[in-house]
Amino acid sequence: MEKTILITGGAGFIGSHVVRLFVNKYPHYQIINLDKLTYAGNLQNLKDIEDAKNYEFVKGDILDTELLKTLFSKYKFDGVIHLAAESHVDRSITNPLEFVQTNVIGTANLLNVAKLSWNGDFENKMFYHISTDEVFGSLGKEGYFVETTPYDPRSPYSASKASSDHLVRAYFHTYKLPAIISNCSNNYGPNQFPEKLIPLAINNIKNNKNIPVYGKGDNIRDWLFVIDHAKAIDLLFHQGKAGETYNIGGDNEWTNLDLIRTLCSIMDERLNREKGASEKLITFVTDRAGHDMRYAIDFTKINQKLGWKPSLDFKQGLESTVDWYLDNEDWLNLIVSGAYQNYYKDQYENR
Ligand code: NAD
Ligand code: DAU
Repeated sequence: MEKTILITGGAGFIGSHVVRLFVNKYPHYQIINLDKLTYAGNLQNLKDIEDAKNYEFVKGDILDTELLKTLFSKYKFDGVIHLAAESHVDRSITNPLEFVQTNVIGTANLLNVAKLSWNGDFENKMFYHISTDEVFGSLGKEGYFVETTPYDPRSPYSASKASSDHLVRAYFHTYKLPAIISNCSNNYGPNQFPEKLIPLAINNIKNNKNIPVYGKGDNIRDWLFVIDHAKAIDLLFHQGKAGETYNIGGDNEWTNLDLIRTLCSIMDERLNREKGASEKLITFVTDRAGHDMRYAIDFTKINQKLGWKPSLDFKQGLESTVDWYLDNEDWLNLIVSGAYQNYYKDQYENR
């Protein structure tokens, strides 16, 4: 094997697309996917590659120091791509300490075991930390997040991600651990857990349930197809410069309300409903506490240095995403039974 790579959080939404891309594109790399399989981790996401010769799954927690040491010693990792995290803002408002544990302490633990295991021999090593644009805070009507925008996180989720980014930077500067960070905007696509806006709306429209829109629906997000993010991660892992950070985004800003209306019209078409039928499900509910108004990414750096740009037209991406959720009812139904029902009730019943 040319390289052995540890991918954390590979059973989640973005992680599963990254694992698939690496397993298929690099048959001479060995890919080890370490995932705790929290509510968000799902091995069904990787069914198509689970028997690949260059792939192995390990169920485990990034907080488990002994496990990490054993894995580093057994596999002699050349690189780490770190995606494991608690990722949902609403859950972080309800349960912030879980986010501190996984996102802050978990990342610190992984960094520390990488440093100890590599023991100063950093040649051809890379620790790649996947972060979010939410660390930069909230924009007004104008402007974009660039790599040098000061950090200004507002939710327990974004504060925990910002904190983990700072630790990664500290390990680079203090110990020379070769590390890069990328900060990406909102991803969408197949396999996203239906607590997040797009799959939640698709699932509710399908079942004729209200679509909860926080506040006035005028908050803006910059959407990127998940496979475009995975391709950027591939490029940065191989060609990113240690010590640098890179912004990744879709150049694709939508208010939540316009996005949901577009989804409704695609769903009307797909489900042979009367034009405008799904829009009637839109329901304005109490806003998210501390709701960031606008995110927008300037991705000039990765574009100019490495030639990356988003490949997919948004309407096309949304249509193929809707089709995926409609074609994969079993995947969706398995998730939205049981614990999901309790989550949904707690989160939305009194909004
Ligand atoms: P996700 O919630 O779908 O998946 C997270 C995965 O991490 C799950 O498989 C879960 O089981 C695993 N995990 C959680 N805690 C763990 C632990 N202690 N040890 C091992 N595994 C653990 O998240 P996602 O949306 O795929 O996001 C992946 C990463 O990308 C996160 O770091 C997130 O902050 C970042 N990110 C996400 C987006 C987005 O729009 N979804 C955008 C930018 C950055
Ligand atoms: O920007 C990157 C971030 O994008 C990632 O770091 C996070 O992991 C990811 O979850 C996402 O965060 P958001 O909070 O932007 O995503 P979410 O899908 O939860 O919400 C998108 C927007 O839709 C946000 O403005 C809140 C709103 N919303 C969300 C839900 C779940 C609603 O109006 N109704 C809802 O039911």
